[in-house]
Amino acid sequence: MQVIKYVFQPHGDERGQLVALEEFKDIPFKIKRVYYMYDTAKGVVRGHHAHKSLEQILVCIHGSCKILLDNGQEKKIIPLEKPYEGLYVANNMWREMYDFSTDAVLMVLASELYDENDYIRNYDDFLNFLKVNKGE
Ligand code: TYD
Repeated sequence: MQVIKYVFQPHGDERGQLVALEEFKDIPFKIKRVYYMYDTAKGVVRGHHAHKSLEQILVCIHGSCKILLDNGQEKKIIPLEKPYEGLYVANNMWREMYDFSTDAVLMVLASELYDENDYIRNYDDFLNFLKVNKGE
């Protein structure tokens, strides 16, 4: 499984750092939605789903967390701990987010508006979806 982690270029000077993210330039899709998670309770695992067509970039803009990616054949765990790193998460990819530090803010840039019909929330349904859509 190929893991795509973007390293964004901070505009740093003696005042500090600034990262700017533009669609089709820093981010490979049109950004239709931004959401973020914070105050995540200790031990919580979020996600547990895949998307049929949504693509995302995950940026832990404060603190740290871990992302498990699973394409149905292979799993990878990717730590996110830098505010200038973005993890690309394709569609058809099972994801779980966990090990959030208490100060973690996980920001998600998404290619689509919120649509519950795009979610696959059951792991067996995910594996079936992959089988049915093989080669697409
Ligand atoms: P949920 O899908 O459970 O988050 P995750 O799978 O990442 O742990 O979403 C939590 C709640 O927030 C749920 O009631 C749906 C709502 N929600 C929105 O209204 N808009 C959104 O863009 C997202 C991601 C969630």
